[in-house]
Amino acid sequence: MIKIAPSILSADFSNLEKEIKAIDDAGADILHLDVMDGHFVPNLTFGIPIIRQIKNAAKIPLDVHLMVTNPENYLEILCDLGVEYISFHQETVFHLHRQVSLIRSKNAKAGIALNPATPVNTIFPLVPELDFVLLMSVNPGFGGQKFLPLVYDKIGKLRDFSKKENPNLEIEIDGGVNNENAGKLVKTGADILVAGSYIFQQKNYKKQVDSLR
Ligand code: DX5
Ligand code: ZN
Repeated sequence: MIKIAPSILSADFSNLEKEIKAIDDAGADILHLDVMDGHFVPNLTFGIPIIRQIKNAAKIPLDVHLMVTNPENYLEILCDLGVEYISFHQETVFHLHRQVSLIRSKNAKAGIALNPATPVNTIFPLVPELDFVLLMSVNPGFGGQKFLPLVYDKIGKLRDFSKKENPNLEIEIDGGVNNENAGKLVKTGADILVAGSYIFQQKNYKKQVDSLR
């Protein structure tokens, strides 16, 4: 079963509670939250206080994607808030195994995110320890960018490797996902599709979620 994860980045932040409810009602599976620090990526979004409020408002599980240089500072608190999926970038952390273990010890799902140019085999040793891998299909920092097809090859390699090493591993694709590439992404091995601009560009979110599914 494919999971559809709308990215709140493209929502109307002046009506966040209404937007969250509309996404719940649209039949989405998880809610993707992009945390950006202005250092790892050239953009700023939101942090813990807003995530705490979103957690209270949302019925579906939260998926926090940390695009920050020091994700270590946020892992424990996100787990304590009850966030279900937590990912941080391979490019920002020296001790990936330590941070993954911390997340899992708190019973959240642990994921590592990779920029488009980061080879997927850099995380192969950790695949047995991971719940999911987030493969970026745009350069992180902004919604509404053009999909990079180089991700297909990375999905295929990771899926092949994980079949033996961790059959439960979920592969999440983030950036430029739409109804034209969703089919091929899933065929290649994706399990979770993040979509920001594609979902929020139209008033009828259910129609957009259904068309991706
Ligand atoms: C980009 C973020 C994405 C973004 C996706 O850095 O990680 O989650 O919201 O937006 P779209 O679907 O518009 O590319
Ligand atoms: Zn994201």
